[in-house]
Amino acid sequence: MPIPSALACVRCGARYPLDHFAQDCAACRAAQAPANLTVAYDARPGEGLTPAAVPARPASLWRWQAFLPATADEAVSLGEGNTPLLPAPALGLGDVWIKDESRNPTWSFKDRLASGALTMARRFGARVIASSSSGNAGAAAAAYAAKAGLPCVVFTFVGASPPLIAQMRAYGAMVVTVEDKADRWRLQSAGVRQRGWYPTSPFFGPVVGSNPYGMEAYKTIAFEIAEAFDWDVPDWCVLPVCYGDALFGMWKGFEELKALGWIGRVPRFVAAEVSGSIAAALASGAAMPPERARNEASIATSIGASQGTVQALDVLRRCDGRAVTVDNETLARWVVTLGTREGIWPEPSSAAPFAAIERLRAQGVIAPQARCVALMTASGLKDTSVIETALPPAPVVRGGLDEVLHALRDVYGFADG
Ligand SMILES: Cc1ncc(COP(=O)(O)O)c(C=O)c1O
Ligand SMILES: [Zn+2]
Repeated sequence: MPIPSALACVRCGARYPLDHFAQDCAACRAAQAPANLTVAYDARPGEGLTPAAVPARPASLWRWQAFLPATADEAVSLGEGNTPLLPAPALGLGDVWIKDESRNPTWSFKDRLASGALTMARRFGARVIASSSSGNAGAAAAAYAAKAGLPCVVFTFVGASPPLIAQMRAYGAMVVTVEDKADRWRLQSAGVRQRGWYPTSPFFGPVVGSNPYGMEAYKTIAFEIAEAFDWDVPDWCVLPVCYGDALFGMWKGFEELKALGWIGRVPRFVAAEVSGSIAAALASGAAMPPERARNEASIATSIGASQGTVQALDVLRRCDGRAVTVDNETLARWVVTLGTREGIWPEPSSAAPFAAIERLRAQGVIAPQARCVALMTASGLKDTSVIETALPPAPVVRGGLDEVLHALRDVYGFADG
């Protein structure tokens, strides 16, 4: 395990102490481009290891402990990571693979973040875990806090998806609902600054991203993808993006593999977003993604924030990536397409990468032969609203098989012979 030596700014490289995880880079904030911090080490992560010598155990992301700030022995783990990478030929999008993060313990990729953040929370002697989340991050924080034996406060808002709130409560989190979304950060901020609560999520604006130790665990998505393709990485990685935590973490993971010589190049990235904030900054050359108010609420509530982050924007600039803005109609179509053609049911935000690949293939930005990996970040069971409206309700049938055959024809258009 490499020893963490500092938290370094993702933008200017300024170094801060290891316990600076509840703050951003003071220099970049003064320069109007607030930026997150990331873990820096005393030695190159993975140094001395070879691809063939990466241990198979434990069966979690902690098998990559040679790249992480803590050991597998001290990890707060529920068996996160090791998710399948599945070919998706029936989507009509060419060479596309789905990294199915809905197979994680709380059915989203946020389990990686929570495992990384809670492991270090214990190391720092945290007493209380705090998260502001409309859903997946809060559910994951709640589960991993339970596993760590720590109390967890989750700030959420009126109108968040009911299954997600139930999930947080099931893991024993103290869920607090506010009417105005903006209040969540004000309250969490007071808890962190006045009571020393340990934050796993963003809690001040302009937003920079999440806890650096949690983000570090997202590197393992890149490691798993590279290993699955026998170290011949895909051309593009396409993600639903809100704060760009996973985008930054994956990019950092590929960079580390390249520095070791395990891979020859780093994939290009696409941020599929609903606000258009990162796309606007890429087009204008701005240092900070602008706030972008929308007329219509997005069905992808998990990525519904109106402003992107510097950490996401900078990765796209470094890898010549793209940002694609997706609308509700297209998202709903991809939710249904994935479920009915590939047997994978994404929550609405997780359908965004497929809409982005479709658009970029049509524009010729992603070449016809190029290989893409789409990050399928969370399960459709988190938010069933698209299915309720996009597909016919199940008919109630009385009588025998004739009535069943009628219903199949009338409701589903299916003629059996
Ligand atoms: C299902 C899902 N997909 C994507 C995202 C975006 O994640 P990130 O903040 O890493 O960009 C989130 C949460 O923010 C989410 O819950
Ligand atoms: Zn900085």
